[in-house]
Amino acid sequence: MAGLFITFEGTEGGGKSTQVALLAERLRQLGHHARVLREPGGTPIGEEIRHLLKHHPANEVMMPEAELLLMNASRAQLVLEVIRPALARGEIVLCDRFYDSTIAYQGYGRQLDLDLVKSVVHFAVGRTHPDLTLLLQVPVEVSERRRAARQAATAGPRDRFEEADSAFFRRVEHGFQQIAEAEPERIRIVDATQCIEAVHDDIWRLVSPHLMP
Ligand code: TMP
Repeated sequence: MAGLFITFEGTEGGGKSTQVALLAERLRQLGHHARVLREPGGTPIGEEIRHLLKHHPANEVMMPEAELLLMNASRAQLVLEVIRPALARGEIVLCDRFYDSTIAYQGYGRQLDLDLVKSVVHFAVGRTHPDLTLLLQVPVEVSERRRAARQAATAGPRDRFEEADSAFFRRVEHGFQQIAEAEPERIRIVDATQCIEAVHDDIWRLVSPHLMP
């Protein structure tokens, strides 16, 4: 029995984590086995890599090439250790970011060669692809405001990605647009400027046709 693999994508500030949690809750209420994961991370090894990428003091000098490989080291571990076995058991896997983020951030954002980026991704995931990808879209200005508010709050540790300049995030946003246009069947755009409930309703309309009765 094959499971269902759904990924959530978009620039920061679109409310992905909230929506992943809401969808998981609704699926569980209906008796589905829903597993929530995030990238980078999702396994003990992946969470160490996540810390290195986002918060470690030494990451100020991290090169885009190293960033690309670390993202995909975390991903290969997640695919093999968790995602494939879960899908083989028929579970629904919800992942907060997956390889479209690599194309958008390391490809378009960091401007690494796109074909090279895609081949690294292919090495990490092999035949494992999302059945459905929900691209939560907010205008760049909204995501910038939310990012600035988070940085001002400074309760948590510093986040290297949130320190990038607005030109970087505009390239990332453009990247997500290009990716969505190339695969309109798999990637569905959700207007994340709406209230949380309305975004969830849109997501549910897109997810429910994929569920087994
Ligand atoms: P988040 O979990 O708060 O979204 O943080 C993850 C950060 O990592 C976010 O800024 C996007 C970035 N990222 C990449 O640059 N490439 C990737 O492949 C993934 C999965 C995330």
